[in-house]
Amino acid sequence: MPNPKKIILDCDPGHDDAIAMILAASNPHIQLEAITTVAGNVEVEKTTLNALRMCDILGLDVPVAEGAAEPLVREREIAPTIHGKTGLDGPKFPNVPRKEVSDQHAVDLIVEKVMDSDGDLYLVPTGPLTNIALAIQKEPLITEKIKEIVVMGGGTFGNWTPTAEFNIYVDAEAAEIVFNSGVPVTMFGLDITHQTIATEEILKQISEIGNPVSNLVSELLAYFSTTYKEVFGFDGAPIHDACTVAYLIDETIFDFEKVRVDIETEGTYTYGTTCVDRLHVTGREPNVKFATELDYEGFWRLLVGALRA
Ligand code: RIB
Ligand code: CA
Repeated sequence: MPNPKKIILDCDPGHDDAIAMILAASNPHIQLEAITTVAGNVEVEKTTLNALRMCDILGLDVPVAEGAAEPLVREREIAPTIHGKTGLDGPKFPNVPRKEVSDQHAVDLIVEKVMDSDGDLYLVPTGPLTNIALAIQKEPLITEKIKEIVVMGGGTFGNWTPTAEFNIYVDAEAAEIVFNSGVPVTMFGLDITHQTIATEEILKQISEIGNPVSNLVSELLAYFSTTYKEVFGFDGAPIHDACTVAYLIDETIFDFEKVRVDIETEGTYTYGTTCVDRLHVTGREPNVKFATELDYEGFWRLLVGALRA
């Protein structure tokens, strides 16, 4: 088996972030070096608390470092309508997690880990890109050492505005820095993540596994699926963030195109849009490996297999 991929998961748990954590923690192809948190679905204090809670449940002994509480320049926007006030509504968690947050700021941890690496470290942001952008601003040299930035965000349509996806919309200025950093960017936008919907059949499979982690996921997905049915009229919840880790485990689950992606940071109606140039009409140098098609069976075989493990 090839050496495991070393990753830092920068996240805003968040139901689907939590499932990405489970996949990363349970698969031998992934070496989870650290978890960093950012304000996104809910305030950063809560996304950090949720990351610590997930580490307790998974027995994860990796640093959890808290990051940005606000976007680079815009007013903070959160999404309690989707993930609930706690950011992980549904399951009941002990009030105080056993695991303690690192005393290092997330941005300092990212810079330190990348600069100390052999150039084999993947950054896997599944929330707003504020921490990644701050790390690049703090130490531009990291752009020469980061192996790949594997982002959940953006798409050719929006879920927060008609054209903008939430993670990019919250901090489009940060996204602009990341997408123009020169670091290889692999992007899992809504075009692919909406292909992952957890159907009733999938929920039934998970409910029949019967271990503490699979039972937690059943409770998470019960809440998250209800939200997506009520808010978006979907048949179930898309597990957006898990696409990033699934790709690092088995990239054959996805098809990709190399495209130019520019970030709109001005538009009245279009702020936060990832302008995905699939027909190459701009003639601009492609900067993103854009996920287009999903092997649904392969994706869920990986996820359900992780829960069985
Ligand atoms: O738009 C979906 C993204 O926003 C996911 O990462 C979800 O966790 C929220 O952060
Ligand atoms: Ca997220």
